Amino acid sequence: MLEWMNFLYVLTENEYEQRKNGPMKIPSTDEILLQLKDYSNDDLSRYTVLMKDAFQQVGPIFTKPQYVDFFWHCASTVPGWIAEVVLANADAESQGAKKLVDLWKSTTIDKEIEDSILFHAKDEARHSHLFVKLDSIAFPESNTDGELSKIKDGLTKINSHDLVKDGVSVSNYDLLDYLVQMNMGEIRTLVHMHFLGPVIFAMTPKESKDKVYTILQGLAKDEVIHIGYTSKLIEDWCNDSNYTVAKHLYHNRLMDFHKHTISQTADTIKKYGQNQYPALLEI
Ligand SMILES: [Fe+2]
Ligand SMILES: [Fe+2]
Repeated sequence: MLEWMNFLYVLTENEYEQRKNGPMKIPSTDEILLQLKDYSNDDLSRYTVLMKDAFQQVGPIFTKPQYVDFFWHCASTVPGWIAEVVLANADAESQGAKKLVDLWKSTTIDKEIEDSILFHAKDEARHSHLFVKLDSIAFPESNTDGELSKIKDGLTKINSHDLVKDGVSVSNYDLLDYLVQMNMGEIRTLVHMHFLGPVIFAMTPKESKDKVYTILQGLAKDEVIHIGYTSKLIEDWCNDSNYTVAKHLYHNRLMDFHKHTISQTADTIKKYGQNQYPALLEI
């Protein structure tokens, strides 16, 4: 039986076998919004409408069943692919942490917002290490300790002496733009966790499943928190007069992000897709 845990479901060996014939589940925007409610009772009424409308109108590639099918195809047919994806995530989280520190340096609008951004940056830096750990525990054969420690050395470190404002202050609108892009980026990360998490868990050696489960749940929980605080800040920004501005911005940024995700995925689709996923290359 497919079991919903707090944030992610996990598959038994048997389900993993059966799942080879069917798509994984993608959380809907309603399910994501419901998860946010677990963390806060904030009013997100304007955010809810602009986010749901944008997702419905744009239909980003990462919400398409074919996208999940393709990931499943790669995970189940290309040896070592999923371990590479885990390490690519370490790098992506590290870059995310660096961008957030840069944003923190140029944000002087509101102390509470600045603190949230810095907290987020530290989370992503920690996540980058967790993905390396995940690779070593879930796929012990895939990399040597030497290779992994070299990767770890290159990850973003946040030292307190580097945390100095850079004197360039980001405008209110530009901050909203960053928050909107972060919000959809976090949603994509959560969606990825929902279909990659169960595969990683299923491939993990039995004796390490508990540890991997804890790491995966922790990562998914943090991503829900990241979606939650950015949603709240977007909601706060939306008053009667600038709601339309935020709505257009979210829609346009989601279209950009959709195209960006296609270009990020295109090479892998051409390499491993065996011409079975042409719709994923269409904008
Ligand atoms: Fe993360
Ligand atoms: Fe995140």
